[in-house]
Amino acid sequence: MTREFGVGIIGCGNISGAYFKLIPLYRNLKLVACADINPAASKARSEEFGVPAQEIAALLANPAVDVVVNLTVPEAHFPVSKQALEAGKHVYSEKPFVLTLEQGEELRRIADARGLKVGSAPDTYLGGAHQFARHLIDSGRVGKIMSGTAHVLGPGMESWHPNPDFFFAPGGGPILDMGPYYVNNLVNLVGPVKRVVALANKAREERTIGNGPRAGEKVPVIVATNIHAVLEFESGAQISLMTSWDVWAHRHQNMELYGTDGAIFVPDPNFFGGTVEVAGMDREPKAVEVWDHPLTAKNYTFDWGTQANYRGVGLSDMMEAVATGRDYRCSLERSLHTIDVLTAILRSAEEGRAIDIVTTCTQPAALGIAEARALLRDDVAAPAVEAAAE
Ligand SMILES: NC(=O)c1ccc[n+]([C@@H]2O[C@H](COP(=O)([O-])OP(=O)(O)OC[C@H]3O[C@@H](n4cnc5c(N)ncnc54)[C@H](O)[C@@H]3O)[C@@H](O)[C@H]2O)c1
Repeated sequence: MTREFGVGIIGCGNISGAYFKLIPLYRNLKLVACADINPAASKARSEEFGVPAQEIAALLANPAVDVVVNLTVPEAHFPVSKQALEAGKHVYSEKPFVLTLEQGEELRRIADARGLKVGSAPDTYLGGAHQFARHLIDSGRVGKIMSGTAHVLGPGMESWHPNPDFFFAPGGGPILDMGPYYVNNLVNLVGPVKRVVALANKAREERTIGNGPRAGEKVPVIVATNIHAVLEFESGAQISLMTSWDVWAHRHQNMELYGTDGAIFVPDPNFFGGTVEVAGMDREPKAVEVWDHPLTAKNYTFDWGTQANYRGVGLSDMMEAVATGRDYRCSLERSLHTIDVLTAILRSAEEGRAIDIVTTCTQPAALGIAEARALLRDDVAAPAVEAAAE
């Protein structure tokens, strides 16, 4: 491992707690500052985690900050990332990376001109379970993947998130909010996408906030909340993806991929761990003993259970690439390809036609056991993160 890079977080809301807790797991990362447009939010995180809070402009001028982690709401991702690049900082953004291809291309131009790197979550596909699925597919266990299904279905986010407005505004909706986990993992497992076709609707015009100080307040639903898409991959595979926040109950698997010699059942791409099942020509799905990958260990307690959570591994991998010049997995190319696929799905539903994907990318390199372990600090070999329920 090379050197330690200073990390400045901009956006100290709900998900920032996970980043404050998990960034310290990585050998090459050190939290040095945080900021928010709402100073009360950064002050609260600063007091909770002992990381100095600054005004946004001061954080961007702070020489100890090498990389800005952009955890603002989707519509602020582009302007905040752009500002950070213009201040000479590398950028790693939460998803969705940007809302249009033009925004992504503009970030690319600024970053290239300044020799900076830009990356984006989700990095959950680097988790041990998904890397194990990748390993099984790469080793030919189920033959060539030719079709499959993926489902991310639920009633929506307004019951738990205290400020759920952005989920139902442009940049939100289940395809842009949850789709990145699925498309990133499909690119990891199957490769880039060539063409999409989709239909979409919404079940309700408004949602009622169920948690926090605004409980009972209504939020308008501007975007589609129920989207059926079919993705055609450059490999020839055709995989259907259904994302919906209009579903109270269902019995679909998160992800099933069908190969010429079998089928593989992939756990929830929103998480790092889980059980991988495989069936051969015997047609009997069986759990496969997951390897001893460090990004599989359950280390993080949510209020509903304990899960493997290694958010920040994509950032650590990107900063290792800054140090060594190698490719990084959550790269601008791949992040922009995901946005291309997701926005094309929405456009296909609006226009009633198939849409060709104009970007492409290479499949990210698999993240094996040794390389994943090298990103983590030594004392994380048996992970034990003190994670308050959230
Ligand atoms: N909450 C989750 O569980 C979760 C999980 C994964 C990813 N994400 C993604 O992370 C991002 C943030 O989600 P969240 O749930 O933390 O939202 P949030 O609304 O709780 O927090 C966002 C924070 O960003 C700040 N902010 C907004 N605009 C800003 C700007 N221009 N400059 C500086 N700060 C600004 C807000 O004041 C707020 O504190 C979203 O893109 C979301 O999709 C959230």
